[in-house]
Amino acid sequence: MSQQILILDFGSQYTQLIARRVRELNVYCEIHPFNKVPAITPDIKGVILSGSPCSVRDQNSPTVDISAFSNVPVLGVCYGAQLIAHQQGGNVLPSQIREYGRAKLNTVNHANELLKEISLDTQVWMSHADTIASVPDTFEIIATTPSVAVAAYKVKNQKVWGIQFHPEVTHTTEGKNLLRNFVVHICGCNQDWTADQFVDTTIASLKARLGNDQVVMALSGGVDSTVAAILVHKAIGKNLHCIFVDNGLLRKNEFQQVLDSYQHMGLNIKGVDAKDKFYAALKDLTEPEAKRKAIGRTFIEVFDEEAHLISDVKWLGQGTIYPDVIESVSVNGPSQTIKSHHNVGGLPEKMKLKIVEPLNTLFKDEVRVVGKTLGIDPTILGRHPFPGPGLGIRILGDVTADKVRILQEVDAIFIGGLRDSGLYDKVWQAGAMLLPVQSVGVMGDERTYERVVSLRAVTSTDGMTADWAHLPYEFLANVSSDIINKVKGVNRVVYDISSKPPATIEWE
Ligand code: XMP
Repeated sequence: MSQQILILDFGSQYTQLIARRVRELNVYCEIHPFNKVPAITPDIKGVILSGSPCSVRDQNSPTVDISAFSNVPVLGVCYGAQLIAHQQGGNVLPSQIREYGRAKLNTVNHANELLKEISLDTQVWMSHADTIASVPDTFEIIATTPSVAVAAYKVKNQKVWGIQFHPEVTHTTEGKNLLRNFVVHICGCNQDWTADQFVDTTIASLKARLGNDQVVMALSGGVDSTVAAILVHKAIGKNLHCIFVDNGLLRKNEFQQVLDSYQHMGLNIKGVDAKDKFYAALKDLTEPEAKRKAIGRTFIEVFDEEAHLISDVKWLGQGTIYPDVIESVSVNGPSQTIKSHHNVGGLPEKMKLKIVEPLNTLFKDEVRVVGKTLGIDPTILGRHPFPGPGLGIRILGDVTADKVRILQEVDAIFIGGLRDSGLYDKVWQAGAMLLPVQSVGVMGDERTYERVVSLRAVTSTDGMTADWAHLPYEFLANVSSDIINKVKGVNRVVYDISSKPPATIEWE
């Protein structure tokens, strides 16, 4: 990577947003925890200090010595700004008035590079309990709001700035311009980090790294594994061996459709029908975690067996993306947690494989842009997330082939309806749950006693929080009658109107 911005994370909920905004400017950046600062190599053109829920006045608050960055420009955001002020003799105190929400900059020093072309009265987003009450003479105040005396400052004779508002959130109307001023004009970054460039450099580096080696990769039909596989395929062609397992818990016709589209893309792919193995492993299991474990274990067994049929495999390819590998700062203590979402966990050690993860520096939306650059079918790139254990965790209670068949039919009507009504791309994820209850109904002259299904559709940006999608009543009415009329064994449809939190997206 020729140029990058280093973002130091102090635990703010917005740190990843800073990174996304910087990347939207076509500048590469990385997030590192405040207490694991990497060496400041010449490719690092600037440093951004994130916000934090902590107070610089607390004894154990997170800190860095900013003198380590004396060769590059530094921008402190919120807590980052308070930290610099605190370290250099300013006064940070609990705020006397509410400093949360929208505010307007009523003075702006346009002569300062950071605030060039930022409008007077521009809206900014404040979110802090502490405030910078005073700054030393070595600081110049460059912006204020009616209630915040030090909304932005510059340290005189140093390339160090601080802002108490959050430029990364959309409520700060000109936040992106401010970040552009910092990253492009102050740090001098070239804005050449584009999807095309990412594809070219990644393929070249994969070629160099993998050489003539054989690579095995499990595909799921999802965006990440597909884009990762196409990149590796472009680098090493047939030496990439892809495996797509039918676990019997996929959507209706999905196995064949996905297999066909992979073949169409030229991938060296093998479809493995392991439905019966999965159903056997799930037999009589009702507890969600037990089901997840059984599905995970069976997957590893099947994949392991298949991978051993390929001679001399050295690498395991994975579609891991950046949010899965960012070390998140725990504000409750110094411990670091790494989210791991590897669906073949344990396998690399077992098979002594090295890991290749070409997307581990990208956010989800960037993966989609890269996928588009690679010419991948938009229907694959726009697919809703689907959990690894599939319908296995949408059939509440024990899983049987018969229940899978019922749920597949229901799901196909619901998802098909969303597509036909132009609603599919408006929701983040949708699916149906087969409930372990039967209810009384009447069909013609007959009393029925059949299953209940619940439809679930949510809006979200990352799945961490979600709201139930406000689908039109008309649409829900049509889907409901379609399901009850067409799917034998179902006589009642309900719609889930729970948000996350406190509910989760999946029912199990
Ligand atoms: P929850 O139910 O926790 O789901 O709100 C958040 C997102 O994660 C997906 N999910 C899973 N994905 N294995 C996966 O690969 C799992 O065990 C699993 N459980 C939930 C869920 O579909 C949603 O996108």
